[in-house]
Amino acid sequence: MERRPFAGLTVPAIGMGTSQTFDVPAVDDVRQAITDTALDAGAVFVDSSPMYGHAERILGATIAPRRQEAIVATKVWTFDDEEAERQIDASLEYFGGHVEVFQVHNLRSWKTRLDQLEARRDLGQLDIVAATHWQASEFGELETVMRTGRVAAIQVPYNPHERDVERRIFPLAQELGIGVILMRPFAAGGLVRRAPSAQALAPLEPFGVTTWPQALLKYGLSHPATAVSIPATTRPERMAENAAAGDGPWFGPPEKALVERLAG
Ligand SMILES: NC(=O)c1ccc[n+]([C@@H]2O[C@H](COP(=O)([O-])OP(=O)(O)OC[C@H]3O[C@@H](n4cnc5c(N)ncnc54)[C@H](OP(=O)(O)O)[C@@H]3O)[C@@H](O)[C@H]2O)c1
Repeated sequence: MERRPFAGLTVPAIGMGTSQTFDVPAVDDVRQAITDTALDAGAVFVDSSPMYGHAERILGATIAPRRQEAIVATKVWTFDDEEAERQIDASLEYFGGHVEVFQVHNLRSWKTRLDQLEARRDLGQLDIVAATHWQASEFGELETVMRTGRVAAIQVPYNPHERDVERRIFPLAQELGIGVILMRPFAAGGLVRRAPSAQALAPLEPFGVTTWPQALLKYGLSHPATAVSIPATTRPERMAENAAAGDGPWFGPPEKALVERLAG
């Protein structure tokens, strides 16, 4: 089955997350270097949220000089309808008046938020409407949202320790033609604290994998339902390392099983 592209994104792809990593009070050389490294390496899909402290504002500033190269995904995250309008206005301000992918964060008040985002889409302020959730217990609700036909993409966690999406969410996304953004490829860092030996990773070398983080990124993107993975880092050189995992060949069942064994 063909991968589902969305928002002009060439898929599958590595992008960049900003949770915690971009929550700094002012733009600094590190955040600028991470952003430039991502764009230089073709990791043009960048994700943020008003939930991530200063991250949206900082990303907006670091990406501004090359805004046309980026595909920006951000979120609306509140139970309050008026606050939602303010969040959307602020995001549009940060990203030069237009956002490519606008997501309902954690499905918060999703019916009204979809109404609001669709109204903004009709005004040409955003391209596609999407929804996110990180918790398996909420995937039933996420399925309901997917079946409304109102979201063109979803964002969910997927890594060897978080595989709930394989059962119903991925097949449904494929059936409905919904793009999948993959969050938490390293389980928020838990999977990369300790790396397997070079010898253990050797069977993955023919797939262009030379490091453990790359093995985890390729694990996620090897599922045909996925479109883009958004690892977050505070180190520019790691952004380059991560971006290098965005090309095929993709893992088959033996390689995926090996990564699951190595992840423990
Ligand atoms: N919608 C939602 O509910 C939701 C929830 C969670 C996440 N997200 C999105 O998904 C993005 C990714 O998830 P996440 O940030 O939670 O976790 P993640 O990307 O799985 O892991 C981030 C951690 O991995 C480390 N790391 C990154 N690249 C590495 C490398 N090459 N080698 C070693 N360590 C590396 C980083 O540490 P260093 O900084 O030291 O490199 C950081 O601590 C978020 O930033 C956010 O945009 C969305």
